[in-house]
Amino acid sequence: MSTNENVPSHIAIIMDGNGRWARQKGFIRFRGHEEGAKSVREITRACAKKKIKQLTLYAFSLENWKRPQREINLLMKLLKDYLIGERNEIRENDIRLTAIGRISALPEDVKRELRISMEESKNNKGMTLCLALNYGGRAEIVDAVKAIAEQVKTGKLNVGEITEETFKKYLYTHDMIDPDLLIRTAGEMRISNFLLWEISYAELWVTPVCWPDFKKEHLEEAIKDYARRERRFGGLRGEYT
Ligand code: IPE
Ligand code: IPE
Ligand code: MG
Repeated sequence: MSTNENVPSHIAIIMDGNGRWARQKGFIRFRGHEEGAKSVREITRACAKKKIKQLTLYAFSLENWKRPQREINLLMKLLKDYLIGERNEIRENDIRLTAIGRISALPEDVKRELRISMEESKNNKGMTLCLALNYGGRAEIVDAVKAIAEQVKTGKLNVGEITEETFKKYLYTHDMIDPDLLIRTAGEMRISNFLLWEISYAELWVTPVCWPDFKKEHLEEAIKDYARRERRFGGLRGEYT
């Protein structure tokens, strides 16, 4: 049987379970988010060292605004501190930082730090680290449809020209490859509106480990499992062709 021996080019992670991690330890939820930021650093470093081309992290969903204002404020503060605090690390690991989502709706101070980090790292040649911020998969598709409709309305695009390839050009991820491996921590078997278009053929890996406990060895385990899988993309196994 032919297997996929390669490491994934693009890993996407739904970083879940910060709250549960904190509750299990008797801490307030925010401690879980703080510890989660440490996992972000370790996993980013590990992926960069493994020459993974892209790591996309689901950090804040469009639906996360439903949380109490206090938690949202703390998460935004943590994000800002992370952006400032990781600049050296990003530089040293030759990482290019990007972001997807409805970025314009983020707080001004977060946007400023994000802009600085992206600008500073834009010519780096190593791994791309993409933060999904205020991201929703359905919103991404709706935003693409609106942009396409605008092009059609102004006569710049014919309806007949709309293919999967053209559609992709209007997504936030237009310049990225699709994820090969999607990891979700903390055990839930759901997608929670993450990269709906892009994960159509991603390999899924769900671990019960909560995000603050997710370390290099868990990443290795996921990558090893990925290597054993046979990706067929709707075709047949090698032995039948
Ligand atoms: C993930 O952890 C972090 C964000 C969604 C921002 P959660 O905060 O969702 O943790 P649980 O799911 O409540 O354990
Ligand atoms: C998904 O986690 C979003 C992020 C990791 C940023 P959630 O905790 O928001 O997802 P649900 O509510 O369990 O589906
Ligand atoms: Mg959660």
